[in-house]
Amino acid sequence: MMTNTEDAMIDYYARRAAEYERIYARPERQADLQVLAQFLSRAFSGLQVLELACGTGYWTQFIARTAAAILSTDYNPEVLALAKPKDFGNCRVEFTRADAYSLENTAGGHWAGFHGFWWSHVPVARRSQFLSVFHSRLSPGAKVVMIDNVCVEGSSTPVLRRDPEGNTYQLRRLDDGSGHEVLKNFPSDSDLHASLSGCATDIKVRRLPYFWITEYKTAGMPDNSINTDGNAAGLLSRQ
Ligand SMILES: C[S@@+](CC[C@H](N)C(=O)[O-])C[C@H]1O[C@@H](n2cnc3c(N)ncnc32)[C@H](O)[C@@H]1O
Repeated sequence: MMTNTEDAMIDYYARRAAEYERIYARPERQADLQVLAQFLSRAFSGLQVLELACGTGYWTQFIARTAAAILSTDYNPEVLALAKPKDFGNCRVEFTRADAYSLENTAGGHWAGFHGFWWSHVPVARRSQFLSVFHSRLSPGAKVVMIDNVCVEGSSTPVLRRDPEGNTYQLRRLDDGSGHEVLKNFPSDSDLHASLSGCATDIKVRRLPYFWITEYKTAGMPDNSINTDGNAAGLLSRQ
């Protein structure tokens, strides 16, 4: 069940859809954004990827350069409508609406997973449930990448308050003048390791000045037989 905070965030991103990609034009972040784009252009070579909270498909474009196929999902139809017409080259990209906390109509057996700028919006108390649902749609041993913001004074929206569970909140404004309190967490490396320990292996966290990248494999042995989509694994190479 969604909380008021989560409902408010969904509404905020629906209203922000048309202005969302301006965040990727911030001059001070350009060098880091290029590093992320290059990294994602190679990260999923030959793999079939499940992307959560894909938004306007900005990062999908880079993943599509070498991935075999991507199933990109988001809760908001407003952002999916902006993602669909983008150019994904030869990559087979499918968009579908899905709640990242339930992934109800999302098939399993994906060989890789990705979410960008989503982990920071997952409340501390829901991290474990979120990971359990996400990983249930991935093969054991699947490669996962997540990227998100580092809090940088003078560039990031300041943190307004902290709740008793340890979530932090920002006040954001949209072009229509409306103000929105948005849950936005900035985990430390040890927070990330602690959240993933027990359900992941080979965890690597890397920090750029403005962003962090976390890579890991889902726990369990790779399944080389048949995935739950009914596709024979091995048609595409696993990396
Ligand atoms: C910060 S944006 C990230 C968009 C995109 N991944 C990017 O990096 O450009 C967060 C996204 O989460 C989506 N979202 C919010 N709540 C969601 C939920 N419960 N399930 C799936 N997507 C959700 C919003 O619609 C929004 O597109």
